[in-house]
Amino acid sequence: MGELRLNELNAETISAANRLTLKPGQEDFLEPETYTHAEQQLDPAGSWPRVILDDDEVVGYIMGAFDEDAPEEFLRAALWRVNVSAKAQGRGVGRFAVAAFADEARKRGYSRATVVWAPGDAGPGAFFESVGFRVIGQTPFGENLGALDL
Ligand SMILES: CC(C)(COP(=O)(O)OP(=O)(O)OC[C@H]1O[C@@H](n2cnc3c(N)ncnc32)[C@H](O)[C@@H]1OP(=O)(O)O)[C@@H](O)C(=O)NCCC(=O)NCCS
Repeated sequence: MGELRLNELNAETISAANRLTLKPGQEDFLEPETYTHAEQQLDPAGSWPRVILDDDEVVGYIMGAFDEDAPEEFLRAALWRVNVSAKAQGRGVGRFAVAAFADEARKRGYSRATVVWAPGDAGPGAFFESVGFRVIGQTPFGENLGALDL
């Protein structure tokens, strides 16, 4: 693993991010149902998509969604998506991406960030807890709501 960097999206990195392949069974966890139903409430102006580069190779993608006026807390400083290519998993890329999202949220004045995930063995629960999120509740779809104090 070389040096990890965060980059904004451009034509090249978007297509590389779209080609990232996950491990079997992980696709099911990419979009929690809670988020599918809330997608239309997202303020596009608050969207914060980034790729993670290992030297010059795209190895991960992260999307934050910020909206300080959102009525529900889980939409204010939300980690909407994070995924790391199968071959780069387990080497700190996800941790790096979440730290970058947390820095961004802090810069924007938030004191807490949230994430929603579906429970399940192939899911990201253990990852989110390892990087500091704690479960603060369940959504109406039976998914975990996690919070990270910033
Ligand atoms: C979840 C995901 C982003 C983690 O990325 P990663 O680069 O493999 O994670 P890291 O290597 O940075 O791991 C950070 C910590 O989480 C732990 N962790 C990561 N995946 C884990 C797993 N499946 N089970 C247990 N612990 C796990 C690591 O052990 C590490 O802990 P440590 O630093 O205390 O040793 C990656 O597995 C993925 O892309 N999953 C599929 C997509 C997904 O479910 N995304 C979330 C919903 S959008």
